[in-house]
Amino acid sequence: MRVLLTGATGFVGSYTLRNLLEQGDTVAVVMRTSSDPWRIQGLLDRVTVLYGDVFTPQTLAEGIAQFRPEAVIHLAWKGVGNAERNDVAQVYENVPGSLELLRIVAETGCQHWIGLGSQAEYGPANQIVSEQTETAPTTLYGISKLALCQLTKGLCQHYGMRFAWLRLFSSYGPMDSPYWMIPYLILSLLRRERPKLTKGEQLWDYLYVGDVADAICHVLHHTGAEGVFNLGSGEARSLRSIIEYIRDNIDTSLPLGFGEVPYRPDQVMHLQADIGRLRAIGWKPKTSLEQGLKQTVEWYRANQHRYNR
Ligand SMILES: NC(=O)c1ccc[n+]([C@@H]2O[C@H](COP(=O)([O-])OP(=O)(O)OC[C@H]3O[C@@H](n4cnc5c(N)ncnc54)[C@H](OP(=O)(O)O)[C@@H]3O)[C@@H](O)[C@H]2O)c1
Repeated sequence: MRVLLTGATGFVGSYTLRNLLEQGDTVAVVMRTSSDPWRIQGLLDRVTVLYGDVFTPQTLAEGIAQFRPEAVIHLAWKGVGNAERNDVAQVYENVPGSLELLRIVAETGCQHWIGLGSQAEYGPANQIVSEQTETAPTTLYGISKLALCQLTKGLCQHYGMRFAWLRLFSSYGPMDSPYWMIPYLILSLLRRERPKLTKGEQLWDYLYVGDVADAICHVLHHTGAEGVFNLGSGEARSLRSIIEYIRDNIDTSLPLGFGEVPYRPDQVMHLQADIGRLRAIGWKPKTSLEQGLKQTVEWYRANQHRYNR
C-alpha cells in the first residue's frame, strides 16, 4: 500500500515505519526541518520525505498530491508527555490540524485513515476497559483525542473512507522518551541513583512497542477492520512488580524509592485493555513483558550515552 505516516520520528512511529517497510509498503513520512530523525536513521533513503508541519498541513499539500497516499497512519501529536496533558495546544493545534490533513488526503483519493487514540479517552475508569466503556476524559489530551476520534469518524463516513482508531494504553521499549516511568527508572538505576516512585500499587497494562507497531500495521492491512480498537496487552501487572523486575535485571542491591512520590489526585489505579476486538481480527501481542523489559534494559544499557545529563 502507499502509506503516508505522520509522527515517524517519534517512538511509536519509528517502529511503525520499520514494520511497514518490512511488509513491502511504499511510505512517505512527514518531518519538520527541526525534527531529529535519530530513531529512523538508516530508513530515510527508503522513503519519501515530505517536509512540513502536520498541524499546518497546507505546507504538505503539494507533496501529498504527488505521493497520492492510499492510506494515512496519523501518529503525530503535540504534547504526548504527562507534563503537557492540559496544555491548550492539545485542542488548538492537534485537532484542527489533523482535520485539515484528513480533508487534504481525502481530496487526493486516500481510502484508509488509521488514527492513534489513547486510553486517556476513557478517563480514570479503574476497571478492564472495552470499546463500549463510557468515555469520560479528564485532561485536555484525552478530550482532544476523543473529539478527534468522533470528528474523523464522521468525516471518513462523509468522504467514503475507512476509519480505524486505535486507543493505545501504555507502551514501552527501546528508544522511548526519557520522561516516562520505565525509561526514567532504568536510566536512574543504570546511574546507580535511587528512583523516586509512588507506592506502585497500580495495576498497569504495558504493551511492547514492537507489538504496538505490529497492531497498527495489522489493522492497516486488514481492510475490513473499522471503528475503535483498544490497543494494549490485555493483561495488568502491579507497577511494583514491574519496577522490581527491572531493578533485578540491573542490580538486585539497588534501592527503590517506593512511596516517595504521592499519587496524583486523579491517579488511575487499574489500567487494563479488553483487546477482544483486535483478537477477533487475528492480532495478539507477541512479546511477553519479561522479554520486552529485558530487551529494553539492554538497549538503555548500551545507549546510556544518549541520555547523559
Ligand atoms: N507512547 C505511548 O505510550 C502512547 C500511549 C497512548 C497514545 N499514544 C499516541 O501515539 C502517538 C505516538 O506517540 P509517541 O509516544 O510515539 O510520541 P512521540 O515520541 O512524542 O512522537 C510524536 C511525533 O509527532 C511528531 N510531531 C509533533 N508535532 C508535529 C508537527 N507539528 N509536525 C510534524 N510532526 C509533529 C513528532 O515529530 P518531531 O520529531 O518533529 O518532534 C514525533 O514524530 C501519539 O498520537 C500519542 O498520543 C502514545
